[in-house]
Amino acid sequence: MMFISRRVRFSASHRLNNSELSAEENRTLFGACNNPHGHGHDYEVEVVVRGSPDPRTGMFLNLRQLKEILAIHVVAPADRRSLDHEVPFMRGRISTTENLAVAIWDEVAPRLPGGTLHLVRVRESENNVVEYTGP
Ligand code: NI
Repeated sequence: MMFISRRVRFSASHRLNNSELSAEENRTLFGACNNPHGHGHDYEVEVVVRGSPDPRTGMFLNLRQLKEILAIHVVAPADRRSLDHEVPFMRGRISTTENLAVAIWDEVAPRLPGGTLHLVRVRESENNVVEYTGP
């Protein structure tokens, strides 16, 4: 069993808000992250894929393909965007780092040409990191 990981970065804005709660409940729950005009993060995403190398190729996943999947399906839709208003894979999800990790898992896992998605790690800031190992 081996693990391959790849890291990508994108910048996006968001606002934590649950439309099913009142304005006051949202302020209490999310604090400054509920500020109406939002704020931005430089997100760092790492995906880890596990597998065993195919003896014929010496690989279980072509890194070029993983790079393309992340560029096309994660970075391009999210970079310089509002997670709440412009990013299709975040539609209907509160833009917490937890939900972002789940959404990225859902984008990447079914597209992998080899190996099995093992971990999605999303770093929202230097000190805040969420790791998701799947449903
Ligand atoms: Ni934030």
